[in-house]
Amino acid sequence: MNNTFNLHIKNIDDTDKFAQNIAQIVSKTGGLICLYGDIGAGKTTFVKHLAKYLEIKEKVTSPSFVILNEYHSGKISLYHFDLYRLEREGLESILDELHEYTENDKALAIIEWAEFSSGDLPENRLEIEIKYVDENQRRFFIKAFGDKNIKILELIKEFYK
Ligand SMILES: Nc1ncnc2c1ncn2[C@@H]1O[C@H](COP(=O)(O)OP(=O)(O)OP(=O)(O)O)[C@@H](O)[C@H]1O
Ligand SMILES: [Mg+2]
Repeated sequence: MNNTFNLHIKNIDDTDKFAQNIAQIVSKTGGLICLYGDIGAGKTTFVKHLAKYLEIKEKVTSPSFVILNEYHSGKISLYHFDLYRLEREGLESILDELHEYTENDKALAIIEWAEFSSGDLPENRLEIEIKYVDENQRRFFIKAFGDKNIKILELIKEFYK
């Protein structure tokens, strides 16, 4: 089965629509989403739109300085990590937590700058790489690992048929 899917995102409304589609699925499954992409690619923007559709009431901000922000007011709990400033020992200290969230269908963990995890993340995950095209356009490269995420990816593909 093909575990990849690429999307051409024309503008912020497309990012919003994608976030809505993902929210519809992960609000029932939970899971782990790893975000890759340069500064300004749109990782935090995607998380903010996703949080809106998960009906999270708090304002979602970038966790750059705190590594993790968590939100419990929505349909499922959201654990929003940003590894940009993480030290090696820091990663070890969050891995157990991450495994726990990833196995819980009532929690969604999202990791910005997953590049900095040096490959130690849980096996079962959805990877989304965001590539800058121009001011408004992006390309999303999506990859699914593990049965649960392959099913999630099949559902994502349905939205774009
Ligand atoms: N289609 C789009 N999708 C997402 N963001 C877009 C899009 N078009 C324009 N933008 C803009 O690009 C910027 C993305 O910034 P954002 O903070 O989300 O990036 P980031 O990947 O989280 O960066 P960092 O690595 O610094 O955390 C925002 O100003 C957003 O409005
Ligand atoms: Mg960010």
